[in-house]
Amino acid sequence: MKFDTPATTNPIDQLKIIGKSTDRIDGPHKTSGLATYAYEHHDVAANPAYGFVIGAAIAKGRIAAMDKSRALAAPGVLAIVDAANAGKLGKGNFNTAKLLGGPEIDHYHQAVAIVVAETFEQARAAAALVRIDYVRAEGRFDLAEAKAGATKPKGGADAVVGDFAAAFAAAPVQLDETYATPDQSHAMMEPHASIAIWQGDKLTLWTSNQMINWGAGDVARTLGIPQANVRLVSPFIGGGFGAKLFVRSDAILAALGARAARRPVKLALTRPLIFNNTTHRPATIQRIRLGATKAGMLTAIGHENWSGDLPGGGPEDAVQQTRLLYAGANRLLTTRLAVLDLPEGNAMRAPGEAPGLMALEMAMDELADKLGLDPVQLRILNDTQVDPEKPERSFSQRQLIQCLRTGAETFGWDKRRAPGQTRDGRWLVGMGVAAAFRNNLSMTSAARVRLDKDGLVTVETDMTDIGTGSYTIIAQTAAEVMGVPLDRVAVKLGDSAFPVSSGSGGQWGANSSTAGVYAACVKLREMVARKLGLDPALAQFSDGKVSAGGRSIPLAEAAREAGLVAEDKMEYGDLAKTHQVSTFGAHFVEVGVDAVTGEIRIRRMLAVCAAGRILNPKSARSQVLGGMTMGAGGALMEELVVDKRLGFFVNHDLAGYEVPVHADIPHQEVIFLEETDPMSSPMKAKGVGELGICGVAAAIANAIHNATGVRVRHYPITLDKLL
Ligand code: MOS
Repeated sequence: MKFDTPATTNPIDQLKIIGKSTDRIDGPHKTSGLATYAYEHHDVAANPAYGFVIGAAIAKGRIAAMDKSRALAAPGVLAIVDAANAGKLGKGNFNTAKLLGGPEIDHYHQAVAIVVAETFEQARAAAALVRIDYVRAEGRFDLAEAKAGATKPKGGADAVVGDFAAAFAAAPVQLDETYATPDQSHAMMEPHASIAIWQGDKLTLWTSNQMINWGAGDVARTLGIPQANVRLVSPFIGGGFGAKLFVRSDAILAALGARAARRPVKLALTRPLIFNNTTHRPATIQRIRLGATKAGMLTAIGHENWSGDLPGGGPEDAVQQTRLLYAGANRLLTTRLAVLDLPEGNAMRAPGEAPGLMALEMAMDELADKLGLDPVQLRILNDTQVDPEKPERSFSQRQLIQCLRTGAETFGWDKRRAPGQTRDGRWLVGMGVAAAFRNNLSMTSAARVRLDKDGLVTVETDMTDIGTGSYTIIAQTAAEVMGVPLDRVAVKLGDSAFPVSSGSGGQWGANSSTAGVYAACVKLREMVARKLGLDPALAQFSDGKVSAGGRSIPLAEAAREAGLVAEDKMEYGDLAKTHQVSTFGAHFVEVGVDAVTGEIRIRRMLAVCAAGRILNPKSARSQVLGGMTMGAGGALMEELVVDKRLGFFVNHDLAGYEVPVHADIPHQEVIFLEETDPMSSPMKAKGVGELGICGVAAAIANAIHNATGVRVRHYPITLDKLL
């Protein structure tokens, strides 16, 4: 099915099941321990061996010698695979550095070997006996220093509209500030883990991966085998946040270890390895210049962004939201990429927009201060209903103003006073606001739907559920379109044997994967109607029955002799060229700052979101709460500390890399504005999982300024920066 005209009325609009708050159908599995994560598939591998990964002890240079003899002689050791004996390895499409390094080393903790043994403890003990001599080379580890040599990234274009320099120089009110966001880690709960089993030349990987088809392709490319010989299975995923968009060393090294040991191999990256071995969100430096009239109309918007990555890597594109969020006739937006020899940078929840809004939305708050304008009002004044770079393109839906107004009213924004003026005992109290913006992407997504003689509808797609609720919204979609109760739908996900879905990434998963299920179900409805001799154009599906022309027949009748199976995918045409499809929100935060110690406590948080049709308000709310929580981490805690001499992230465990705990998070509220977006898909839905984090950190930073009068432009805002 091709989606190339705006959606009209369709079975989803009945809203009998879609749009209703629905408990997660995988909830009981998760809370009772029956949901099987990658490392826990005990039934698939009889007598598995265990792998332990050795990470490089230098950031850049090469291995001069590796002595494996003592390790090979250690108890239980079955094999050690390193670059010297792994055979020729190819390169995946989605990895910058090799997943098995050596002799050249590209970054600290790049995997250089896997030790396979009878038990985990034996593998770990033997790994300590492998002696590696390195020749260290000079590396570049400091973004502030490397930024001077930064260049335009491949395929990246500056956004130049009007004459920024002249307009900024002429603006009666100007802001020119530089902001910094640190390297951040996904810190998902489930580590990267895989079980690899070879049957002849066919490989099965039980793994933890957001994008099954990308993953299977990269495994094949890396190992030099046909993709048809690779099966990836990932039914439950304990958090992704972008860390598992791509296969990492656990999958590749488990496969290599299993081949060498001729045994199934289980492998989980240890937590201290994950931070430097896998990907992270790169740090940014962002200079923002805003020029405005005295009334607060933006006339010049300048946003220059720098980040770094390994040679051949990509930028953290923190100007994306600035292209679309506010009007302003003169614009200059640039992204520059420096070469750094730190671990590999890549996508983390709302890549680009999350750090971009941390800077832009603080700058807007500072501009409001300079203008003596309410920051909500400044944002409303500068709203645009068209793409500021291409005014002929309008937004499919854009309720930023409504988000701001609803939020201000609900939150009690009128109680906000000038900086430092509100006191509650020893606490200085402040309120902050920020706009939220994240684009909505649509990805081709396929599904297979089967109706059996008991009337059960089974959906199969390689879509993943990374804790987001995919199982539930997919079941809701199939139930709505087929006219059956939710408990008559079974959903099977996360297996490369199933049709290729959108996968989970970029907050495209919910809308895209359900649209694919919709397409397959529409096809199945036609098959059912024809089979029962009913006119497909007139057939109504509800309560497990199909009705047309005065006849009403149980759905299951159509599958009486043999099950009916339909497979289809949703593909997208050119609608995105004529309309900009984005999601919007507003975050409101109240903080208290201890007047003596500088301790910062978030007291209240509110998010108002306009993100198309909300398929399941309960799980969508959870997504936004999670985003707000991660935003709190970004504002106050999260920072990978770079050792600029040796080139690694120092705090590479969950003791040193701080993320919020329950005690850090206060009352949170989420409001979804009424919205359906006919340009997004027949589901009329959009993403919320990444919108939830966008703008949160700036709202917190702005609240801290309102409480204290102190402006901290380098995240995270720790108390030492306030004193
Ligand atoms: Mo997301 S950072 O595309 O998982």
